[in-house]
Amino acid sequence: MSDFTSNFWSVFVTAVTLGGIIACGLLLWMAGRKKVAATSDNTTGHVWDEDLVEMNNPLPRWWVWLFVITIVFGLAYLAAYPGLGTFAGKLGWTQLGEYQNEMDKAKAELAPLYARFADMKPEDMARDPQAHAIGERLFMNNCAQCHGSDARGSKGFPNLADGDWLHGGTPDKIRETIAQGRTGVMPPMAAAVGSPEDVRNVSHYVLSLSGSPHDSLRASLGKSKFSACAACHGMDGKGNAALGAPNLTDDVWLHGWGEAAITAMINNGKTNQMPAQAEKLTEAQIKVLASYVWSLSNSGASPAAAQ
Ligand code: HEC
Ligand code: HEC
Repeated sequence: MSDFTSNFWSVFVTAVTLGGIIACGLLLWMAGRKKVAATSDNTTGHVWDEDLVEMNNPLPRWWVWLFVITIVFGLAYLAAYPGLGTFAGKLGWTQLGEYQNEMDKAKAELAPLYARFADMKPEDMARDPQAHAIGERLFMNNCAQCHGSDARGSKGFPNLADGDWLHGGTPDKIRETIAQGRTGVMPPMAAAVGSPEDVRNVSHYVLSLSGSPHDSLRASLGKSKFSACAACHGMDGKGNAALGAPNLTDDVWLHGWGEAAITAMINNGKTNQMPAQAEKLTEAQIKVLASYVWSLSNSGASPAAAQ
């Protein structure tokens, strides 16, 4: 497959590659035929460092044959493997195919290791030291870059080790999140709320829900405007896991707290995505991972607690 719109580069690469090989062959042929005029003692007549002379001998035969073999090998290789522009090569080898083969082989080798967990309940798996160790390693390799190596997240990336969930915290919900990914969408809401003053007032009302520092006059003025938010966050502000709308009454803030952070949220909205892993990880790996993540916020459900 080529990303170019014309085949100019394909022809160019092919011409330069084949031209280079042909030029090597020609050079070898010409060098074998042309004799340098030699003096009677069979030297070229050049003298260095007073007495160092150059003999006028042809290349040794075995050396010439090495060159010939190299040229033949080069041509055979280019016929078998992709190397000449967009020509795919007779063997049909591709980088992607090689990668797929290796991945399939690795997955097949791992399958027996995961077989033990196939019928295990998530709660039991969380207590199993081997499952826990595998889960931890999978997490470090696939999840830590966003959620942190302690799974405690950072701004925009949720903490997975607390009991607070955007999309639900049962092992099943967690498995669904990992396999299919999640997209949390909060649209810009300023127009629905009213003037910039109204937006500030709602922000203070939101802060009041969690008992965070706020201006109580503004909060009471903003209370009625919160109806614009209720469809997703609920009348009481406790959120809705089906929509990924966070609970605003706890003190957990994914995108920061304070008037500035919340007015920005209302004015700009936010689209936040957890990438689906079903293509990357096997079903068994996702199952083990889900139990591991679930155990992080359920103390008592870890191998240490089971002992
Ligand atoms: C590219 C960054 C990224 C990677 C990699 C990533 N996540 Fe996420 N994850 C996110 C974001 C962002 C969210 C929040 C989505 C939202 O706001 O709705 C999230 C949400 C989640 C949630 C839902 C949390 C809740 O409160 O409901 C779980 C569970 C989760 N991730 C687990 C994982 C696991 C396990 C992995 C490794 C296989 C992983 N994530 C890899 C970015 C990532
Ligand atoms: C269409 C549904 C929807 C509506 C309406 C909505 N929100 Fe949201 N809101 C969300 C979602 C989903 C998120 C989480 C975004 C993410 O995944 O990062 C969110 C996040 C937030 C956050 C960030 C919470 C945190 O932990 O950092 C605040 C604050 C917030 N909303 C306030 C409001 C206010 C105030 C209104 C009304 C003016 C409102 N929302 C209306 C869906 C909605």
